[in-house]
Amino acid sequence: MEFQDVVNRRKMVRSFSSRQVDDSILSTILSNMNKSPSAGFSQGIEFVVLRSDDRRQIFFRQWGSEEDRKSYRESWPHLEQAPIIILVCSDESRYQERYGELDKKGLSEIPWWFVDAGMSTLLGLLSTVDAGLVATFTGVKNQDYLRHHLHIPVQVHIVGALLIGYQEGDYRPSSSVARGRRPTEEIVHYDGW
Ligand SMILES: Cc1cc2nc3c(=O)[nH]c(=O)nc-3n(C[C@H](O)[C@H](O)[C@H](O)COP(=O)(O)O)c2cc1C
Repeated sequence: MEFQDVVNRRKMVRSFSSRQVDDSILSTILSNMNKSPSAGFSQGIEFVVLRSDDRRQIFFRQWGSEEDRKSYRESWPHLEQAPIIILVCSDESRYQERYGELDKKGLSEIPWWFVDAGMSTLLGLLSTVDAGLVATFTGVKNQDYLRHHLHIPVQVHIVGALLIGYQEGDYRPSSSVARGRRPTEEIVHYDGW
């Protein structure tokens, strides 16, 4: 697919069919996510991939009780069918160590471990579109629950999750999309703000 088509088509899609995704597609997505740049080449981003029913249910349970989950299930009845969930994790300690090295003079004010998670996530989203699949990125509510059940070390931030699969039904945007995208002319400041 042409790069511009990939960018234009990328949207957060929250409805998935039960169709499984080939391992070869998943491994391309993951290896592309590993091609993202990282601050000081710290490479602190790691992924936990959830595929079986019981592993994926751990992810959905961190969103709350059956009662709590009713509201998003009403809006997005096919969200939980996503066959693949990739937790985008960031190991802050790798940044602390890297920025303690001689060629780096301490950490900047910016928490690069979150920036790098975004860099990698976007590559994942675009790779998904390129493969003819759809995806959505979502935050997590209960990192401790996920850390406990998936044995994720305590210093690791679970920045969010990519839900990936084939689209079910027509594309339906979230209510946030109705806000409209700000025009490029409004957000670009040539030669100063
Ligand atoms: C950092 C980040 C966090 C987001 N968190 C959520 C989320 O928790 N739940 C959700 O449904 N969408 C989430 N989104 C998706 C945004 O709502 C979406 O990107 C935005 O409405 C624009 O729509 P589009 O990506 O389809 O163009 C998130 C997006 C980003 C970049």
